[in-house]
Amino acid sequence: MAEEHPLPEASPQLVVRGGARLEGTIRVGGAKNSALKLMAATLLAEGSYRLRNVPRITDVELMSDLLRATGCAVERDGDQLTIVVPSVIEPVAPYEIVEQFRASIVVLGPMLARCGEARVALPGGDDFGPRPIDMHVRGLTELGAEFDTAHGYIHARCPNLLGARVLLEFPSVGATENLLMASVRAKGTTTIDNAAREPEIIDLCEMLNKMGAQISGAGSSTITIEGVDGADALHCADHSVVSDRIEAATYLAAVAIAGGEIIVEGARHDHMVMLCQKLGDMGMRISPDAHGIWALVPRRLRSVDCSTLPYPGLATDFKPFLVSLLATAEGVGIVTENLFSGRFRYIDELRRMGADIRTDSHHAVVRGVERLSGAPVRAHDIRAGAALLIAGLGAEGTTVVADAHHIARGYDDIAAKLRGVGADVGTS
Ligand code: EPU
Repeated sequence: MAEEHPLPEASPQLVVRGGARLEGTIRVGGAKNSALKLMAATLLAEGSYRLRNVPRITDVELMSDLLRATGCAVERDGDQLTIVVPSVIEPVAPYEIVEQFRASIVVLGPMLARCGEARVALPGGDDFGPRPIDMHVRGLTELGAEFDTAHGYIHARCPNLLGARVLLEFPSVGATENLLMASVRAKGTTTIDNAAREPEIIDLCEMLNKMGAQISGAGSSTITIEGVDGADALHCADHSVVSDRIEAATYLAAVAIAGGEIIVEGARHDHMVMLCQKLGDMGMRISPDAHGIWALVPRRLRSVDCSTLPYPGLATDFKPFLVSLLATAEGVGIVTENLFSGRFRYIDELRRMGADIRTDSHHAVVRGVERLSGAPVRAHDIRAGAALLIAGLGAEGTTVVADAHHIARGYDDIAAKLRGVGADVGTS
């Protein structure tokens, strides 16, 4: 008899009918790119941690599984996560989990610092190109770690990390985070020069300092860490995750393309000044508000040029949304991607909706058309998927975004949130 193979569960689709103006208040949650790192930081010391404002997204579930694989207990109650870290952890990040989300590489630093070794499956590339970890490895090597790779795993060893001066070739977010989490338990002083300056880095440093670490300079290009040596030097802490500036940007882009007036509740204007400036240049009225960010779209937007840069520059994560906006703006905008080589792939999907975009290596030339037309499209990653959803809000007719599980990796029920301000978005 033939063996039965159950069909894989069909990936959900998001169905958007364009044309509705957005009005009202939409609430932004805790930042994915901070929550995941705060969860990794708990591995540094035994105890019971409470994280609040944790988004209900797939990547947080995957990081919970990864922590469980090391021996931790993780429980969710609403937006709160309780993580109980035992006195002994297994410093291994298994392939089955790592292959599903690349951010798992941030357990390398804390595992190494706590256990003197770490075995982490190599993450490989993803849908927007190769994702090397050479800067993580080089920085940790400066702290005394030794590395070898076998059977798809990177194995780091160092019984006693020593503080050092590390100069990063590029202000990599992940490398800065791994170095921070390793050096807090190193002997002596570590300085990270050309460190990443993102709000999520500041959030991580705040949590580490609550745990007993001695870090100064977070948010600037030079971070100094006075190592706190010894088994009891660090302890558990409670922390509330910083608000998600990329989710906030998604809703600002949604109203920009659909038209209307919204308040993005909980959004931090001071964390997204460059984006708000760009949206202002495009003709949107946008300002900080007592509850978050207020935005009004009085007319069709006009095109601008955009170039992605590390924080406080225009984030690469905002770029897909800006391309969707430029697709229907008045004039021509040139978009330059300086961080991820392959992060233009979703543009083929936008073309299927009638966008007039030419790409050439790191550049996209976007000629605005009067209106996009709804079409079946496919999400290739989190932000590309959200950008297609946004494009659908401004398009004529129905857009069906397939592979919406990518969007769920980083957004807590985006369809319901957008419906709350009048968008016609459902699942099928
Ligand atoms: N890079 C290297 N070598 C390294 C590390 C990075 O060449 O060792 C390169 C990367 O290939 C890339 C650039 O440096 O070209 C920036 O990478 P970075 O390390 O700063 O990014 P990341 O830590 O891998 C985080 C976010 C991304 C966000 C980038 C840039 C998380 C989980 N991910 O990635 O967010 O785009 O910083 O700001 O924090 C997303 O949320 O959808 C997302 C992709």
